[in-house]
Amino acid sequence: MAADAGKSWDARLYDDKHAFVWKHGASLVELLEPRAGERILDLGCGTGHLTAQLAQVGAEVIGIDQDGAMIDEARRNYPQLRFEVADARDFSFPEPFDGVFSNAVLHWVRPPEAAVRCIRNVLKPGGRFVAEFGGQGNVGRIVDALRRLIGRYAGAGAERLLPAWYYPSIAEYTGLLEREGLEPTNAILFPRRTLLEGAAGLRNWVTMFVREGVAAIPGERREAFFSALEDELRNELWSEGAWYADYRRLRVVAVRTT
Ligand code: BEZ
Repeated sequence: MAADAGKSWDARLYDDKHAFVWKHGASLVELLEPRAGERILDLGCGTGHLTAQLAQVGAEVIGIDQDGAMIDEARRNYPQLRFEVADARDFSFPEPFDGVFSNAVLHWVRPPEAAVRCIRNVLKPGGRFVAEFGGQGNVGRIVDALRRLIGRYAGAGAERLLPAWYYPSIAEYTGLLEREGLEPTNAILFPRRTLLEGAAGLRNWVTMFVREGVAAIPGERREAFFSALEDELRNELWSEGAWYADYRRLRVVAVRTT
């Protein structure tokens, strides 16, 4: 997963501390039901673990990601598979695909129309699109607390440094799919409280995914910022010795009809 306009992720840290992202994606692979011989695109493949699962059945899979560091790591992890650097808003392939798969990526991609248009255009008629990403209300508690605190620690106006995540409702996203020529056949929005490992789980998550905001906080104020954030969220997101992120996932299946 990485589609944060042109910025590089720490691919090793991502694999080390955020493996839950792709581990949760295994059931999404089952939803796509890739078959031997099919051409499948893994959009926002990150370090390639789900690309490899998609390929296990004998499908011909290509993984794309905007982040070169992620692609380098994916190639190291799975040298037998094909990975390319590409922008989710602007990609094309000479040969069409039977399926496009995307896990935990599309909430980073704006404008969403551009991604859906590319997805539709690379699918064969009858080809399927299966995706999961953050839906309406995703990490709502964390976002609210960040909005309250970031200006206090990083200076006035620092709210603009928070990521502009895209968390649509079912109605909004299925409407978009229809307008762009994909027929939604299944959509579900569901909560998934997600364990953030270790006592530093919340700060690790924020450090990884809210990088510009954290970078804007002077080093000597960071500890105070993280303590204040943890104090704000402890009642709701800390339980039995661990932090949980208040994820809400949007899962969609759609088919290119024409
Ligand atoms: C998500 O998977 O919902 C997510 C991951 C990182 C940042 C924001 C949302």
